[in-house]
Amino acid sequence: MTEAEFHKAYLREKELRKQAEQLLEDRSRELYRSNAQLTEANQALHEQQRAMVQSEKMASLGVLAAGVAHEINNPLGFIYSNFSSLVEGLQDIQRFLNQADQMIASGQTVEQIRNSWREGLMIYDIAYLLSDYQNLAVETVEGLERVKQIVSDLKSFTRQDDGNKVPVDVNECLRAALNILNNQTKYHSQIEVEYGELPVIQGYFGKLNQVFVNLIANADQAVEENGLIRVSSRLNGQWIEVSIADNGHGISEEHKKYLFTPFFTTKPVGEGTGLGLSISHNSVEEHGGEIRVESEVGSGTTFTVRLPAGSAPAPSD
Ligand SMILES: Nc1ncnc2c1ncn2[C@@H]1O[C@H](COP(=O)(O)OP(=O)(O)O)[C@@H](O)[C@H]1O
Ligand SMILES: [Mg+2]
Repeated sequence: MTEAEFHKAYLREKELRKQAEQLLEDRSRELYRSNAQLTEANQALHEQQRAMVQSEKMASLGVLAAGVAHEINNPLGFIYSNFSSLVEGLQDIQRFLNQADQMIASGQTVEQIRNSWREGLMIYDIAYLLSDYQNLAVETVEGLERVKQIVSDLKSFTRQDDGNKVPVDVNECLRAALNILNNQTKYHSQIEVEYGELPVIQGYFGKLNQVFVNLIANADQAVEENGLIRVSSRLNGQWIEVSIADNGHGISEEHKKYLFTPFFTTKPVGEGTGLGLSISHNSVEEHGGEIRVESEVGSGTTFTVRLPAGSAPAPSD
């Protein structure tokens, strides 16, 4: 190879290397850019997922709202009427006392006063009024407690858990879910509940509450008039299990594959969003648990939520 040829080869090699370096740099820049885009997309997805969870809640809340209004309206109705009769009765007691007062002031004999006192007691039916008031008071307090409970259960349903797990009593979470669904279910199905003794776990109350609300609402929508739903919880080894079993129409093999797919629904618009099970699946997974399904067309379906019992909170000192 002559020196000139060598130089040419050298230059060509140098040029190629430069091109290769340029290519590498371009590629790295592209990679960096698409990585940034991916991170951004991932964040947007997370945000969307959070929004979806919230909108599924709101959609089921829409269905729940009418029932909940009724559930609150009922006790309010009798509290209102209790207070109205309380006012009337108080006026009678006031009249009776005024009358007694006048009599004492008018200087009648003790005998006369005693007689008209007894008469007044009978006319105004004071003994009955007083005992009736005790009942009204007990009933009123119970009604107010029911309203308070419903409002607090609704709050726990709509609340967004902040990022931290807290000690959760799964039975309490289940009870709250049953309570806010009560009006929707009580005219349609019979619910049997059996709470087993459970350890407290670390988790997200709102999310688990939403899981139970959806599973119970699904069961209620799957059964015929007067259908049966069995809700039970138990500790099974290292697992907390919550089962919701119905004797409804069941799920076909074909549909079983899609149950947890977002937007899969067999319900008419307005009744189903198709998001309940996919969100429930994610929420249960966040607790290190799983959802199992057993179903037979025509005889019923059992959903079982399994949560690790081992995630008990650290004992406080
Ligand atoms: N207990 C059940 N019995 C029968 N089918 C069920 C039951 N639970 C869920 N499904 C089926 O799974 C589908 C998806 O449920 P889900 O994700 O909660 O959405 P949605 O209730 O809004 O339809 C339902 O539309 C229904 O076809
Ligand atoms: Mg549902």
